[in-house]
Amino acid sequence: MSYKEQIDTLKLPQHVAIIMDGNGRWAKGKGKLRVFGHHNGVISVRDVVEAAGEIGVKYLTLYTFSSENWNRPKFEVTAIMELLIGTINKEIAKLMENNVRLNTIGDINMLPTKAARELTEAIRKTSSNTGLTLTLALSYSSRREIVAAARQLAEKVQQGLLKAEDIDEQLFADNLYTADMPDPELLIRTSGEYRISNYMLWQIAYAELYFTSKLWPDFRREDFFEAIVDYQKRERRFGKTSEQVN
Ligand code: FPP
Repeated sequence: MSYKEQIDTLKLPQHVAIIMDGNGRWAKGKGKLRVFGHHNGVISVRDVVEAAGEIGVKYLTLYTFSSENWNRPKFEVTAIMELLIGTINKEIAKLMENNVRLNTIGDINMLPTKAARELTEAIRKTSSNTGLTLTLALSYSSRREIVAAARQLAEKVQQGLLKAEDIDEQLFADNLYTADMPDPELLIRTSGEYRISNYMLWQIAYAELYFTSKLWPDFRREDFFEAIVDYQKRERRFGKTSEQVN
């Protein structure tokens, strides 16, 4: 039986987050430049977006570019930004056809003007779609996101609009980039690295973590389905006992 056939559609995670890692190593293994890996990574993005939409996952959030990634060689940063713009332009019709709503989290103002503009336009165009919400984390740092939320709340307290004792988990979450999304129940990281790398630290508090040694350009729809099947075999207890949740 294929992995897809093993999926229980009544027990799907609503939100899957992915750390797409290993593009550089994949390219190096083939004696090519890192950028070749990013180009092939886009093919995996397309495959996984389709797969997620197909089974009915509501939110897919991809770690596309971290705040720390700005420190990569200029050539590589430029190539990734161009790839982003090119991909959005090329895929917009497909996103519409598949009813996908595009969204971003991160410090979008840091992106080159053209990339920011294309993204804003694509987000607007797809805003009424009701299928999968595809969120690209771009110039994203979870710690910065948390600090920004703390700062926003502090400013409201300072202005007398809010009392410090009214700040609770819900209000804090409402001030994160992800305010309108449920927390991810499943976090996937490719390439055999066992790290979170400053990704959605608040939001993954109860997420199941799934690590695979596959490099991102080799991670395709069957691998995504395999991760979902693995997730569905786990017992999520949220601090309770096994007897309480069964
Ligand atoms: C991680 O591999 C990959 C990235 C930091 C970039 C991800 C970007 C894309 C897949 C292309 C653009 C995406 C979209 C959605 C259009 P790495 O470079 O860290 O690999 P390494 O760990 O082997 O060096």
